[in-house]
Amino acid sequence: MPEAVAFQGVTDHSGLHEFSVRETDTFWGTLAHQRLSWISPFNTVQNCDFSQGKIKWFESGKLNVSVNCLDRHVHTYPERVALIWERDEPGTEVKVTYRELLELTCRLGNLLKRQGVGKGDCVTLYLPPCPLAVASMLACARIGAAHNVVFAGFSAGALADRVRDTQSSTVITVNQGVRGGKVIDLKKTVDQAVQNCPSVRQVLVAMRTENTVVMTDRDVPLEEEMMKENVVCDPVAMDSEDVLFLLYTSGSTGKPKGLVHTQAGYLLYASITHRSVFSYQDGDVFGCMADIGWITGHSYSVYGPLCNGGTTVLFESTPVYPDPGRYWETVERLGISHFYGAPTAIRLLLKYGDEWVQKYDRSSLKTLGSVGEPINTEAWDWYHQVVGDGRCPVIDTWWQTETGGICIAPRPSDPDSEIVPGMAMRPFYGIKPTLLDAKGESLPGCESTGALCISLAWPGMARTIHNDHQRFIETYFQPYPGYFFTGDGAHRTKEGYYQIVGRLDDVINVSGHRLGTAELEDVVSLCPAVAESAVIGYSHDIKGEGVGVFVVLKRGVQIDQDVLAQQLREMVSRNIAKYASPDFIQVVRRLPKTRSGKIMRRILRKVVEQKDDLGDLSTLDDSEVVYEVIRGHQKLRSKQQD
Ligand code: WTA
Repeated sequence: MPEAVAFQGVTDHSGLHEFSVRETDTFWGTLAHQRLSWISPFNTVQNCDFSQGKIKWFESGKLNVSVNCLDRHVHTYPERVALIWERDEPGTEVKVTYRELLELTCRLGNLLKRQGVGKGDCVTLYLPPCPLAVASMLACARIGAAHNVVFAGFSAGALADRVRDTQSSTVITVNQGVRGGKVIDLKKTVDQAVQNCPSVRQVLVAMRTENTVVMTDRDVPLEEEMMKENVVCDPVAMDSEDVLFLLYTSGSTGKPKGLVHTQAGYLLYASITHRSVFSYQDGDVFGCMADIGWITGHSYSVYGPLCNGGTTVLFESTPVYPDPGRYWETVERLGISHFYGAPTAIRLLLKYGDEWVQKYDRSSLKTLGSVGEPINTEAWDWYHQVVGDGRCPVIDTWWQTETGGICIAPRPSDPDSEIVPGMAMRPFYGIKPTLLDAKGESLPGCESTGALCISLAWPGMARTIHNDHQRFIETYFQPYPGYFFTGDGAHRTKEGYYQIVGRLDDVINVSGHRLGTAELEDVVSLCPAVAESAVIGYSHDIKGEGVGVFVVLKRGVQIDQDVLAQQLREMVSRNIAKYASPDFIQVVRRLPKTRSGKIMRRILRKVVEQKDDLGDLSTLDDSEVVYEVIRGHQKLRSKQQD
């Protein structure tokens, strides 16, 4: 890191890491001065108190995030490509320069202002990855509104919940999305959702396809109205701690949490991690495959790369469209230098064989990244050996919606330091991980396994849960007083490297997407035939975790199992999203419970994973239930294999 010379006595990576956690204020203060453009300077670096969930960085400083991501680059290299929109149809990519992106952002900012949106409002975006989506995010930042991007795979019900929770007056969408050769009626979903959202005054509709859609009085044709606007829009001076965006993610209750990220700290952290974890340099083409609806898309398709004046790819398609060579054909055609993807996609492509990779020239690749879930060594080796021809480092990055940016990754490190397959390994600058045992004692020494906590605040961390600061405190700061609790378990090796073990709470990770078991159970319980249910995650060779549903039917209900399964899958798609759809549904007479009535999901998971050792059954009210479930599960399996 070039700024390291500013820090006295620092000569190598571990020296810089030590400095960053010892002299945190000097470290982050220096970087904030050097990396961000300020309208007026901050006077304190941090003001944080975990016991109250108080996290504040760079107070009294004023800046505008869109200026940092656009204007300052337009001054130096207006014609540099900011975005490459890799559309669903291969070979139809669209390039957008910094000058063009600034113009688009300003027009949209002016349009939003004309529609009455201003500082303190929240705009919901229901958009696939595309330049207009990025410009909408930046337009909000420019005029001081917060954005709330909802993954365009979520159902009308899930969208409505998020719009209501944010009280958005404005939703931005497209007539239709296009993904994997299929057309998806996004505007129709928005129409359904906003029926139950009284706060919504207008829906701005852009045209991704040529098909017309029904427009109501509430709808505004986005392109047409935008073209009436000026290409100059004055940026609003924002306080460092004003809200930049909300992003919903699943937790251990039925209600998703709207995590809040603010301006300066988030932007600084996204940009520094983007540059130093991936050694991103000028001229590189950064290809983050995540959808903008997830935090990975926010930090590493949009804010990190753009703050660094980089060129970033927006991928609209899927890894297997039109065939399993899509990623590598795209790498060749766009000259991607940094490929950042999810283990689930790697595991899927691995099964199709090496030919799909080897058909294409991948010599532009320098770094391969992985995110969202643990990467097993088989997938890691294939990624490294086949995709990267053994010459690109594979960087497994651990982080969360809550952390804003990467917290543990093999790089940065001293040059040529070892990278151990399947491990995130090294904490980033300013990150101080601690493993704690069940009693809340910090586990000393190197080798240990425990709850992964972080003991110092860092600028990228979430500030609160929208409308529920108490839940923020209870979820992240109360389980282990004095620490931020990640919800993950981790193992530390004798060398001091971290390996993530998985979630410790009732959150499952399906293809890198978080899903609360309680959220699913709430939906399942809406089914009139169901008396009680238990949803579990179990290891799945492609998705990472599969979704299993156990249901007890109401007394006297007779229903064909296939019909029930069909009904439940539809309900889940309608109320949450397709990716949450159960992999199996098993009807049981009773569920294994403790004497106090708590469902033992842990045992159900073991049954599905066919573990011989089911653990301690002595706390169960009636252990015979387990054998009944096992027999039922075997039957279900053999039926599915037929
Ligand atoms: C999991 C995604 C193992 C973890 C950026 C975390 C990982 C949750 C990794 C956050 C990794 C993310 N290795 N597990 N490299 N990266 N996870 O909020 O359980 O969508 O808590 O953020 O994904 O998911 P989220």
